[in-house]
Amino acid sequence: MTGTPLDPAANLKQQAAIKAAALVQDGMVVGLGTGSTAFFVVAELGRRIREEGLRFCAIPTSDATEAQAREEGIPLTTFGAHPELDLTIDGADEIEPRTLNLVKGRGGALLREKIVASAAKQFVIVADSSKYVDHLGTLCPVPVEVIPFGWENVAVNLGRLGAHVAPRKTRDGSFYLTDEKNLIMDCVFGQIEDPHKLGTDIHSIVGVVEHGLFIHMATQAITAGVDGIQVITPTVSDGLIATPVADASQPVTHTAPAPNMNGKSKTVLPPQPVAEGIEKHLLVIMGVSGGGKTTIAEGLRNELGWPFQEGDDLHPAANVAKMAAGIPLDDEDRWPWLARCQEWLSHCKQENTGGILTCSALKRSYRDVLRQGGLNPVFIYLHTTEATLVKRLKNRKGHYMPSSLLPSQLQTLEVPGEDERAISVSADTSPAETIAEILSDLKTA
Ligand code: A5P
Repeated sequence: MTGTPLDPAANLKQQAAIKAAALVQDGMVVGLGTGSTAFFVVAELGRRIREEGLRFCAIPTSDATEAQAREEGIPLTTFGAHPELDLTIDGADEIEPRTLNLVKGRGGALLREKIVASAAKQFVIVADSSKYVDHLGTLCPVPVEVIPFGWENVAVNLGRLGAHVAPRKTRDGSFYLTDEKNLIMDCVFGQIEDPHKLGTDIHSIVGVVEHGLFIHMATQAITAGVDGIQVITPTVSDGLIATPVADASQPVTHTAPAPNMNGKSKTVLPPQPVAEGIEKHLLVIMGVSGGGKTTIAEGLRNELGWPFQEGDDLHPAANVAKMAAGIPLDDEDRWPWLARCQEWLSHCKQENTGGILTCSALKRSYRDVLRQGGLNPVFIYLHTTEATLVKRLKNRKGHYMPSSLLPSQLQTLEVPGEDERAISVSADTSPAETIAEILSDLKTA
């Protein structure tokens, strides 16, 4: 990565970056962050491409990261080709450990960073542990990106929210311009008691493009300090217990409360071995649309660290087009898709990795395809009422399948029989509870 020894801070950033870069798997679409820590992520991914043959494509969050990614030989893609990303890894300027709320944008890339982060299924923060704060606003200003026209008026309005506002300048005294040719107002609010409200207030000012408060976005933080690496997930969200989300490739190592500001003392909770005692299985998370298959599968993946495949992504294009047009699939449509699903499971079996697949697997004969080749997957059947399914599907965004297909799915559904290896779970509880129930059942599966 570099021939010269790194200073201690850079060394910690690199350690966190290497750990996070290990989350990238073949075939992923990855958001690449900006800044001195994200730099090490990009460098490590370049190394993995060259030395391990890793295959993935990426969307960078700044021109600078794009240039670095090109140098590292990382294939780039666009939102046109990939409107959704699997994983974004980025740095942060402040991290509130209980919530993983963040301040970002010291590097000026906050707008693209927020777009790329919000488009990703997982948003992992990498940093050294000096970035922890009890309250956002403690260590650094909140950057606010504004369009140049009328910026002085925007600055006055930001001041009315309680900030000391300074337009960011370059060393030669000219205005700092973002990649989008906008200005940055650095706003010192002091400790921020309600970042969500502040973010909403900032957004309501005409001329503001985006702000550097990243609220309820990060799913995990990987930080390095003098006493090692911590993997942290949010433990509270607006006073509620958050759905457990953890390391994308490994079981939860631990969650930890904030170190104090000088990092000298901190309490680290012992590891929580949620997955202890669970053998590697092939899991098929099944049921009709709207049952929450993806949410539950992602949660299980986070807890168990086994590979996860979204079954919908294995549909031939013709099936996707048919569903998008509101036409139910028939058996003939589904056989090739099920064969692909079976292949994926079979690969997981060969590699002995365990595996988690979302697949509606509505009929026994479909499940028989998934069992072919001596596979013995555990089917996790998520069920709830039709009214709940309808409601969820109506609220679902960004999925090609319209809610009008639900009745035909319900008609097709054959609930797994007692002779099948299946666990039936109510999807009416919170995802955290559903996942806990499944994990407990798996211990005896
Ligand atoms: C870039 O605009 C920022 O959001 C950075 O991600 C953030 O400033 C962290 O940067 P470092 O990794 O350099 O501390």
